[in-house]
Amino acid sequence: MPVYRPTGPSFAFSVAPMMEVTDAHFRALARLLSREALLYSEMIPAAALVRGDPARASSGELGPVALQLGGSDPSELARAAEIGVQLGYSEIDLNVGCPSPRVAAGRFGACLMAEPELVADCVRAMAEAGLPVTVKHRLGTDPQSGPAALLAFVQAVAAAGAARVTVHARKADLGLTPRQNREIPPLRYDWVHALARQVPLPVVLNGGLGGLEQALSQRGSVAGVMLGRACRDQPFLLASVDAAFFGGSPGPTRRQAARAYLGYLEAGLSRGLTLPRLVRPLLGLFAGQPGGARFRRTLGESYRPGLGPALVELALRDLPDSVLDAPPAIPAVPWISRAAAPA
Ligand SMILES: Cc1cc2nc3c(=O)[nH]c(=O)nc-3n(C[C@H](O)[C@H](O)[C@H](O)COP(=O)(O)O)c2cc1C
Repeated sequence: MPVYRPTGPSFAFSVAPMMEVTDAHFRALARLLSREALLYSEMIPAAALVRGDPARASSGELGPVALQLGGSDPSELARAAEIGVQLGYSEIDLNVGCPSPRVAAGRFGACLMAEPELVADCVRAMAEAGLPVTVKHRLGTDPQSGPAALLAFVQAVAAAGAARVTVHARKADLGLTPRQNREIPPLRYDWVHALARQVPLPVVLNGGLGGLEQALSQRGSVAGVMLGRACRDQPFLLASVDAAFFGGSPGPTRRQAARAYLGYLEAGLSRGLTLPRLVRPLLGLFAGQPGGARFRRTLGESYRPGLGPALVELALRDLPDSVLDAPPAIPAVPWISRAAAPA
């Protein structure tokens, strides 16, 4: 790959933390597609990391990867952040956005938006580990609250030393399910834009960005964008990210990415991992393309115990070369032009 200097920090484009999605295998595929995007772990409860087997939460690969923690006990979060340092993560994020009732019962996630001082204490404690600490949160949880309460929340975490915030541009309604909470509360990008103008730390916008063009339309309004479901459902968009957001080169074709991932998959199988877990990140690689549905079906339905990489080879066989070898799309206007890049 040609050498270049990224035109901006990795948080210009990030892949959202997603439980049951952004595990080490998904991140391995994402990293094959984009060298620069900031990746996140699934949310890991601090208590599970402190009391469980930390090796299971390994950052898994090189490059910028944030560990997302759930919790509200500053000393436990501090210990979990130290483990994150040992595991090779580049930063630590605190989840203040998850609206699950189970999570609220454990007093973490979105319910913490009502307790900015406690969140500030958590940030201060986590920062002791020495990595940048960030907070991912919502617009609020109180149906009556407005932009002023959001600003006060972010000012509190900024004063505690947070390096950045990521705002899912919806309120959380603690009476809805997590899934409903990603759809029903209205998106208010204008609140996030106003916040970004008022606070001293970088603000990343998340929520409802369906693809790269929509993401790029946030150019000039926020310091970065975070995409979740779009990356889960169409991971190949990540092959355009280095060129669109970092002044880099286009990523691999789908064929090149699938071949490279096969190497990762074989190494995983030899370490005793199971094929269904390892093929899962590939399921969306051909989404929306001719033959893509059949590829997904073959991976999902043709699995037999003992079958290895041959399953992926089988699924790839039916895809046309025009799909396998199509270069990633490059948007006409990138996030930041090379000329405007920081020295
Ligand atoms: C399957 C799934 C799991 C998620 N798990 C987490 C999580 O562990 N931590 C978190 O902060 N947000 C989680 N989220 C929320 C996303 O990070 C993101 O904020 C949300 O999906 C909105 O972004 P999007 O519209 O780009 O998907 C999850 C979302 C999905 C779809």
